[in-house]
Amino acid sequence: MKVLITGGTGALGKSLKKVFEGAFFPTHSEMDITNANSVNKIILSYKPDALIHTAALVGIRECEENKKKAWLTNVEGTQNIVNALKELNNNCYLIYTSTACVFAGEKEKYYAEDDIPSPKNYYSLTKLCGELVVRQYKNTCIIRTNFVTKEQWKYPKAFVDRFGTYLLSDKVAKGIFDIYKKKETGIIHIVGKKRISMYELALLAGSKNIDKMTLDEYQGPPLTVDMSLSTKRWKKYKIK
Ligand SMILES: NC(=O)c1ccc[n+]([C@@H]2O[C@H](COP(=O)([O-])OP(=O)(O)OC[C@H]3O[C@@H](n4cnc5c(N)ncnc54)[C@H](OP(=O)(O)O)[C@@H]3O)[C@@H](O)[C@H]2O)c1
Repeated sequence: MKVLITGGTGALGKSLKKVFEGAFFPTHSEMDITNANSVNKIILSYKPDALIHTAALVGIRECEENKKKAWLTNVEGTQNIVNALKELNNNCYLIYTSTACVFAGEKEKYYAEDDIPSPKNYYSLTKLCGELVVRQYKNTCIIRTNFVTKEQWKYPKAFVDRFGTYLLSDKVAKGIFDIYKKKETGIIHIVGKKRISMYELALLAGSKNIDKMTLDEYQGPPLTVDMSLSTKRWKKYKIK
């Protein structure tokens, strides 16, 4: 089984490298997803049996401030991959990584796979559009999740009033591997068993010197306040 994974240098990509041994992880410069020729060249020559598409522009602020780049990467980039797979025409299995942020984020709603998305910011909108793009391709699984890596928290503070059923990225990679083995299609939420705040998440991820903050102190694009998901289709995972 030949597996191609985009976004191999990213947070999730690094975790996927530990699970998908022998997979091909083209770099950004080898396969720029915004460039249809580059995507066709790699996909039509490698001929994957499965493709896990994680490459994206993920910074909420960056997407809001550079909508063109966000659209080209997250929507057109995904379209380029789907077009190449259609041309390859070998029924390659596709996994697309989406986000809990496609939902409005009402408190303790625990959104399931069949709930109605309502994105709050441009990043989430482009990820939702990416979902619609991959739905043009039959043999697809859309995964919605939320995670951090076990590395140093990027910020000096973390929200005590923003919540999610978060996982560490290694656990999401395991969830993706579990789904890949069964070749599930449609939409599946990969979720943690417990709803926790971002502050609790930062501590669990191993950060020590981190201050608490609340959404009152935040200035920037609208955020999904409660990213808690449930699942009607899959098992739940322990956070780490
Ligand atoms: N992080 C989260 O909390 C979260 C939650 C839910 C879902 N997701 C989804 O999970 C996926 C992975 O997220 P992440 O946090 O691992 O992202 P990340 O760390 O920011 O990594 C993004 C990856 O995409 C690559 N990339 C960006 N533009 C590209 C382009 N034009 N062509 C080819 N590669 C490109 C980057 O390569 P370079 O670094 O070389 O540019 C990098 O490998 C994304 O689809 C994201 O929407 C993330």
